[in-house]
Amino acid sequence: MSEKQQVVPTVGVVVVAAGSGQRLGLGIPKARVLCAGRTLLEHSLDAVIAAGIASHVVVVLPQDDAVLSSVVAAAGRSGGAAVTAVPGGSTRTDSVRAGLDALPASIAVVLVHDAARALTPPDVFRRVAAAVAAGAPAVIPVLPVVDTVKVVDGDVVTATPDRGGLRAVQTPQGFDAVTLRAAHAAVGAAGPTVTDDAMLMEAHGATVRVVDGDALAFKVTTPLDLVIAEAVLARVPVDATSLPHVAG
Ligand code: CTP
Ligand code: MG
Repeated sequence: MSEKQQVVPTVGVVVVAAGSGQRLGLGIPKARVLCAGRTLLEHSLDAVIAAGIASHVVVVLPQDDAVLSSVVAAAGRSGGAAVTAVPGGSTRTDSVRAGLDALPASIAVVLVHDAARALTPPDVFRRVAAAVAAGAPAVIPVLPVVDTVKVVDGDVVTATPDRGGLRAVQTPQGFDAVTLRAAHAAVGAAGPTVTDDAMLMEAHGATVRVVDGDALAFKVTTPLDLVIAEAVLARVPVDATSLPHVAG
């Protein structure tokens, strides 16, 4: 092998889809909610497959969900990657761990992705995977924070962090597989305050790097988010050449 040839690591993706969708409030698991006629999980898996980076995809599902199980089976038939399903746990961290346990030990790079970020462009997966393959043990996609953020104690503001140093964090988050498994093992049974895997890596002493996220990787959390996702999928592509020219 010449020096210029790079070893491409094997990439696995864990898609966590086992949440109940309380804030959406539709009484069914969020991954099963329809958006433009297809489940959020179908939209998410389309992007994972289209990214073309993964040899294995493990989808973490609510217990005994026949609809979502058949979505996973169909994604597996599309070729490109081996796609399997495992049941999730009571917290997101437990669900990620179940997915990690189901990935082959040979996987070198793991991307962990929220099924609820159903419109994430395939480029975000490629960007994150490339940064991990280039040597970063943990990589997260981020966006600048547009609102001013306050720290409060009850109903009293106690501080205003400098917005310039803050970032809003998305998924997919990418990790060196060995380090992520070790970080999960070290934390034991994590409480609900662990909201992403990068937190576990930080606690484990690993450097976490950021790459550009994408507005379309927003998490469908509330009913308004679902309206926005429907509108995005229904939009007519804008032809920039037909827009009136704005000087300056
Ligand atoms: N998730 C999971 N297992 C859990 C909790 C969450 O796999 N026990 C997944 C969700 O399916 C989702 C992602 O983690 O894709 C982010 O979680 P969130 O947006 O909070 O989804 P839900 O927990 O379903 O929503 P809510 O908190 O409103 O109930
Ligand atoms: Mg939740």
